[in-house]
Amino acid sequence: MSRYVVTGCAGFIGSTLVDRLLVDGHFVTGVDNFSTGLRRFLESAHKNPNFEFIETDVLNVDALKDAFASAEAVFHLSANADVRFGTDHPGRDLEQNTIATFNVLEAMRHNGIKKIAFSSTGSVYGEAPVVPTPENGPFPVQTSLYGASKAAGEGLISAYCEGFDFQACIFRFVSILGERYTHGHVFDFYQKLKADPSRLPVLGNGKQRKSYLYVQDCIDAILLAMDKAQEKVNIFNLGVNGYCEVNDSIGWICEALGVKPALEYSGGDRGWIGDNPFIFLDTTRIQALGWKPKYGIREGVIKTVEFLRANEWVFGERG
Ligand SMILES: NC(=O)c1ccc[n+]([C@@H]2O[C@H](COP(=O)([O-])OP(=O)(O)OC[C@H]3O[C@@H](n4cnc5c(N)ncnc54)[C@H](O)[C@@H]3O)[C@@H](O)[C@H]2O)c1
Repeated sequence: MSRYVVTGCAGFIGSTLVDRLLVDGHFVTGVDNFSTGLRRFLESAHKNPNFEFIETDVLNVDALKDAFASAEAVFHLSANADVRFGTDHPGRDLEQNTIATFNVLEAMRHNGIKKIAFSSTGSVYGEAPVVPTPENGPFPVQTSLYGASKAAGEGLISAYCEGFDFQACIFRFVSILGERYTHGHVFDFYQKLKADPSRLPVLGNGKQRKSYLYVQDCIDAILLAMDKAQEKVNIFNLGVNGYCEVNDSIGWICEALGVKPALEYSGGDRGWIGDNPFIFLDTTRIQALGWKPKYGIREGVIKTVEFLRANEWVFGERG
């Protein structure tokens, strides 16, 4: 059994990872400041004596140095996880996603921890000229501060691998769906449809093509890669082998909710700055390790709607 640190442990993906690591019998130290994470997502973890929680900000490097003591590897998931609104706060992604990653690396170095899993994003590809996009495609031009800050985090991690003999698994996710989902298009559409089921404002023209992945499939891939990856720097795209239009997703959400709203498009082929009209990642590399997603996009969307319907408290909850 191992001792792991999970930063962002109260978040959508982080809390799901914590629960899985505990079920697998590991010791877990979770770190979170509840900026977007929710205490309720840690309720099951707190019942397990192998879980230790440290409420702190990852920008506090001294607190991280203490929290990381005696861990074997770090799953670094804390971040400002939203692509949208980056230009409203130009320093936020740099601080939360790049400087925070530097702090995590320094706290690891301080404790002699050499193995890191990093939740990067498919947004680092910007508007990729090659689709499905492979990990080693043309060096990407950044279209969002979020993507840029994550690409910078990847760069720091790679440099620590080279400079301090770390080993890294860097995961570039498509959008993730499933239980404990608290941000993203299904959340926004659900909330709007609850307020007024007769109409649905949609950013862009609805024809944006997007790929999604169910959260448990995402966790399966992360754990498999951390177990099997051999290189110093291992970069994996994570996504399903396909995509849908935003309009398809709207159709599934409306069907699941039993509503038929008038769709009001804001127009244009991008919903916001940094919205990539076509995201589809080549996942050959992670599949070569023996991973295959168990759920498709439609199932992921429906599972997410079911979670939101059963847990409407998430719309009002903070911290
Ligand atoms: N959800 C997705 O679709 C998606 C897609 C691609 C990449 N990612 C990445 O996966 C990771 C997890 O995303 P998520 O969807 O679970 O997001 P989330 O917002 O639910 O979780 C992030 C967690 O980090 C915590 N956190 C943020 N800043 C912190 C700080 N300064 N100090 C301590 N804790 C802090 C938050 O409180 C939250 O619990 C992020 O790195 C995100 O960028 C997510």
